[in-house]
Order: sequence, then structure tokens, then C-alpha cells
Amino acid sequence: MKAVEIKKDIYWVGAVDWAVRDFHGYITPRGTTYNNYLIMDDEITLLDTVKYDFADITIKNIKSVVDPSKIRHVVINHIENDHATSIDRIMNLTPKATVYMTEKGRKGLERFFDMSEWDIKIVKTGDTLKIGRRTLLFLETPMLHWPDSMMTYIKEEKLLISQDAFGQHIASAVRFDDEFVTCESMSELEDAVVDYYANILMPFGQLIKTKIADIQKLGLEIEMIAPDHGIIWRANPQKVLQMYMDMANGKANLSVSVIYDTMWHSTEYMTLPIIQGIKDEGVDCKVIKLRATPMSVAIKEFWKSRGCLIGTPTLNNLMFPSVAELMAHLRGLRPKNRIMGAFGSFGWGGGAVKEAYEEFKKMGQEIFEPGLQVLYRPSAEDEAKCYEFGREFAKKVKDYHKKFEKEG
Ligand code: FEO
Repeated sequence: MKAVEIKKDIYWVGAVDWAVRDFHGYITPRGTTYNNYLIMDDEITLLDTVKYDFADITIKNIKSVVDPSKIRHVVINHIENDHATSIDRIMNLTPKATVYMTEKGRKGLERFFDMSEWDIKIVKTGDTLKIGRRTLLFLETPMLHWPDSMMTYIKEEKLLISQDAFGQHIASAVRFDDEFVTCESMSELEDAVVDYYANILMPFGQLIKTKIADIQKLGLEIEMIAPDHGIIWRANPQKVLQMYMDMANGKANLSVSVIYDTMWHSTEYMTLPIIQGIKDEGVDCKVIKLRATPMSVAIKEFWKSRGCLIGTPTLNNLMFPSVAELMAHLRGLRPKNRIMGAFGSFGWGGGAVKEAYEEFKKMGQEIFEPGLQVLYRPSAEDEAKCYEFGREFAKKVKDYHKKFEKEG
């Protein structure tokens, strides 16, 4: 992909990673992009770099616009490897450029590079840099999602370079939301936003609300949001801001995710009447078999629904390993405002359902008790219990959802 002018004299010079499917353990079935931006002003400025493997591509894109030795300022909004590991290649081309980053950014990046020869300026929220006709305003966003993170706002363009926030893991031949909606759909784009938020930003809802409030307090008008992954929001940046506010406020669908695994199909057979019970209560339901589904997809579906039922057989008195892995992810992601329950088959001692509830309690979730256990394969009587379990859970989800919508 060649450089793309996103606003007059501001270019996307990033790289599309069509092939990545495992992004540090996060499955990315649609690949991703590493976006960075070049501003052609009196003092030429590069905002972010790209993952090391894509350095040649971004350098080629820069060269299609300008000789890289003319770059005067390099802004590093975030030091994670997918964005900053080609900084040394850029600095070799323009060694006298000044590098702007947060103090935490400097402390982190010096673990990766010898920066002793670089001219580094530490910036904090409210600092500005006049580069000619345009002014850059720096906004620290610590723990969104690393301590070093910041965003850069270009005042005259009403353009927010938002690094990871508002991004999506989508490799596409198009760069903008209006183009993507035309060639694919808004629901695909929304799904990718939720996927990214659920897997990366779920723990930081409160911080997101605070940062969006800060942007509003500063009176920053936003005409375009250009994240460091995926599609640029030029037609409807308010859409993604609203989606983030909603997710940070714990908004979810009135639906249930049934996420399970199974050894000899007994727990799987339990899911069928459970699903029927949920449906018969008028609640929508998404079913995920963990061993057949990427973990990141399970996390996304968990996050979309107000209720979640976990199905797990007992193995060695504990949860099935794939379910234990999901619980480990969810504990770290610290979900809020979800109601959870568990069911599963056991052969002799049991223990998986009990352990699942212990995990729910650690997460501080609303809990639906008691869980449901079945010895070996469910009998007709057990199936009737499963059906009632599904119905009762769906009723609780409806009540909880209603309460949440009313009280927040
Ligand atoms: Fe896309 Fe936090 O790196």
C-alpha cells in the first residue's frame, strides 16, 4: 500500500499486515495495520513508526512523499513493539530529528535502543509543538494501555492521532470508515472495535471515561480520529467515541454467551437444553465451544452479552484447561457489570463448577447460583434440569439488565 493523504499534506505512511494471525497471543483473523502519519509542514513531523518487520515499507512510503532526512520531529505516542521498533531505522535516516515522548516512554524505550545520541524532548499533557502552520498538542493517556501512552492532537486540523485507542485489527485495502462501510459494512467495523476493546482495553473503562471527559473539558473539536491500527474515522468519529463511552459504562446486549468445552460431549449435551431454556425466555444467545474458537473471539462474545454461562467438565477435580485459560484472561481483564453462572459434567469427585464460581467471585461479578452439575451423561431428567437452569438464568439476566439500564 502506498502513502495516502488523509488531510491536506498529512499522509498515512504505515503498513498493512495481511498475514498476522497471532498478535502476542491475540488471534487476529483479519490481520492488522500499523498506522503512522507524516505531516508536511514547515518542520516535517512523523507521528509514530511501525513494527520492525515493516520498517522498509514505512520508509518507502515516507520516501514517496519526502526525503526522510528532512524529518525534523518524530513523535512516539506509544513504545509497544508494534509501533516503536523501527524507530532506530528512522533515526538512522534523520539523526538530527528531535524525538518527543513521555517520561515513561523514554524509560521504556531505552531498554530497547541506545538513545544516547538522540535529541529527546519529554512532553506531558498540555505541551504543544508549533511545526509551522500547525500546532501539535500532547495528551498523556497513561495505562491506555501502557504507562507511556499518549495521544497527539493537531489543533488546526481537529485531528486526533489516538495510538491504540479507537483502533481495530483489520487489514484492509481501504483506509477510512466511509470506504470500509461501502466495501464491507458498519457492523463488521463495530465488531472489530468491540473485539479490540474487549481484549485490550476492558480493564481501563474508568480511565477511558476520564480521558474522554478531559478531551471534552479542553474543548477539543474532533473531525477525524486516526488510530495506530486499522481504519481511520473521518466520516463518523463520534461513532467510535460513543461506542467507547458505552463500553466504558458497562453497556451490553440483553443476551447470553454460553462458553463451554467438553471431553466426551456430556457438557456439550447439557448446553442444548440450556440454550433452549434461554431462548424460550426470549433472550438471545451466542454459543462458543472453546477448543473450536480463538480465545480472543470468546472474550469478545463474553463482553458483548450481559450474561455468561460457563460450561466445564471436571478434569482432575478442576476446570477443564481451556476454561481455566479463559478464566485467567477474564480475571486480568477485570470485566464489570456481567452476570455469570456455571454448569458441567463430572465423573466422580467433581470440582470444576465449584472452581468456576470461585473465579467469578474473584472477578467480582454478579453470580447466578447454584451451578448445575451432572454425573457423566445427562439423563432425560437432567436435561429437564438443564432447561430450567437456562430459563432461570435468562430471567436473572433480564432482571439484572433492566436494573443496570435504569441505575447504571
Ligand atoms: Fe498496538 Fe499497545 O500496541
